[in-house]
Amino acid sequence: MAATIIDGKGFAGTIREQVAGHVARLKEDHGLTPGLAVVLVGEDPASQVYVRSKGKQTVECGMASFEHKLEADTSEADLLALIARLNADPAVHGILVQLPLPGHLDEDLVINAIDPAKDVDGFHISNVGLLATGQKSMVPCTPLGCLMLLRAHHGRLSGMNAVVIGRSNIVGKPMAQLLLGDSCTVTIAHSRTRDIQELCRRADIVVAAVGRAEMVTGDWIKPGATVIDVGINRIDAPEKGTGEDGRVKTRLVGDCEYDSCAAVAGAITPVPGGVGPMTIACLLANTVTACCRANGLAEPEGLTA
Ligand code: GUN
Repeated sequence: MAATIIDGKGFAGTIREQVAGHVARLKEDHGLTPGLAVVLVGEDPASQVYVRSKGKQTVECGMASFEHKLEADTSEADLLALIARLNADPAVHGILVQLPLPGHLDEDLVINAIDPAKDVDGFHISNVGLLATGQKSMVPCTPLGCLMLLRAHHGRLSGMNAVVIGRSNIVGKPMAQLLLGDSCTVTIAHSRTRDIQELCRRADIVVAAVGRAEMVTGDWIKPGATVIDVGINRIDAPEKGTGEDGRVKTRLVGDCEYDSCAAVAGAITPVPGGVGPMTIACLLANTVTACCRANGLAEPEGLTA
């Protein structure tokens, strides 16, 4: 039987509608406008695209967007001074520093300078610790989005075997914590894992977050398992011909080879249109959550882990 396609794009649209509804109520009932500050250092093209998209969707949901674009050679002291200003600004409920930062800046130092209550990325060491100990925290957006998709598809995840491929602080590690929080049996696999295919073949849930195009193939997947593909990789697509610039056209693929995995899986997220749109939707949700917490108001239901 063909795999169910998990429609992350559609689900993200529903979350954005819910966020917009909460924002409208916060304005009407409390005179509050949730505000998100996004800091971009340098001119990494992919980061510029993400930051533009974040700003646009923030405004579309009725929230305030504050964009801070800094030169690539900005000093650590200047960046920390900006973060201190944003921490102290009552109109800013969420702060996101786009990663990666230029090499001369210490990412850990910068992230840990953000007020944990405004850390809508959930990367601050306090939030990492709170998540790991099962306490209320800000939850990283991409893993939160994956969890929402899994819960929507399966209902309860309790007792399922989950393999997370990738051990990054942004996706792999927090994803494993969230699945553990939902009572899955969790294995984190990575580049040094032995018999990774065998391991995946025993999993009810495979979350692929390695950044290697089409690494996971259908023979890694247990029949009927759910595949969550976090990867967004651009590869050459000679079948599409060449563009006006004479270069071979490209296409986006995930960390999973879609056709072979979809032939075996019970459900799968496509790329594009799967996990990707969920990340920004969860960022917007986290900003509303942060605004509610900062003002001692009840948090919106269904938008947090
Ligand atoms: N770079 C890639 N993904 C992310 C993310 O989720 N948050 C931030 N701040 N930077 C990123």
